[in-house]
Amino acid sequence: MARKKIGLIGAGNIGGELANLAVTRQLGDVVLFDIPAKENFAKGKALDLEQASALTGADARVIGTSRWEDVAGADVLIVTAGIPRKPGQSRDDLVATNLPIIRDVADNAKKHCPDAFVIVISNPLDAMVYEFKRRTGAPREKVVGMAGVLDSARFALFLARATGASVKDVRAMVLGGHGDDMVPVLNYCTINGVPVRQLLGKDELAKIVDRTRKGGGEIVGLMGTSAYYAPAVSAIAMAEAYLGDQKRLLPAAAYLQGEYGYDDLYMGVPVVIGAGGVEKIVTVELDDEERAMLKKSADSVQKVVDIVKAAG
Ligand code: APR
Repeated sequence: MARKKIGLIGAGNIGGELANLAVTRQLGDVVLFDIPAKENFAKGKALDLEQASALTGADARVIGTSRWEDVAGADVLIVTAGIPRKPGQSRDDLVATNLPIIRDVADNAKKHCPDAFVIVISNPLDAMVYEFKRRTGAPREKVVGMAGVLDSARFALFLARATGASVKDVRAMVLGGHGDDMVPVLNYCTINGVPVRQLLGKDELAKIVDRTRKGGGEIVGLMGTSAYYAPAVSAIAMAEAYLGDQKRLLPAAAYLQGEYGYDDLYMGVPVVIGAGGVEKIVTVELDDEERAMLKKSADSVQKVVDIVKAAG
């Protein structure tokens, strides 16, 4: 079987880490794409990674480029093009800068990689993935946003630390938009089946929920730019689910057409990812409080989507 082709659009912090993971996990050959001003930077990262592969023994080619022709025919595209947050900024503050970038990427992806499974990471995530789908007209199975896996990983880590459990045993789920109104769903959080509500008190859980919601901002505050290790691992898990037809149930930003009572909106919900892309949107029961939180989160996403739509 020929090797798969992984196109990474944006060769910055997340793009570089994505490339490293894609090579070491041998997902396929990797194309690190960036704008012409960053082409040599992308080429340098690619060469560095290929040299690393001579030590790790990973059989994968990595190239850096600013030519979309080199990305053509990619099986998976992971989009990190755009600028990340700086301290004090919300993800929504990025919309003006990142909207023209996502439009440029969408137009080229449509032309050169019409069959790719696309995972968008650029922020504000839910609005950017919405715009990508709107602009390309791609089916909803093929365009997904990465946020829920990352937010759930943050939630899981905090729960593991608070309970003293192994991170391997924590199951945590965050739904809704990738913003401060995201919905960590305590009813679906367990330590290998044991509900976390039985292990931690209300106050402690409330603090963990709050820290999860602000999890990205905490790192921006510390580093001056946004996270890249955990975001990259999260998107690679989604790409592997697609390439390996794993049928994993993962929270991800999916295009809703009536599910959960929302229409024409991208938001984090549990989905099944396999060879068909987003093969299923799973509807889980939510209590009144969770439904109200999801509504608040959806309203926040809709506000940014309205800005995107007003821009033409
Ligand atoms: N096409 C391709 N790449 C682009 C384009 C474009 N039109 N415009 C900008 N880029 C590139 C930049 O040149 C930069 O190299 O995207 C890259 C982004 O890399 P970083 O600045 O290091 O940002 P990163 O931390 O990787 O985050 C990227 O993901 O999580 C989100 O909020 C984050 O929106 C940000 C994105």
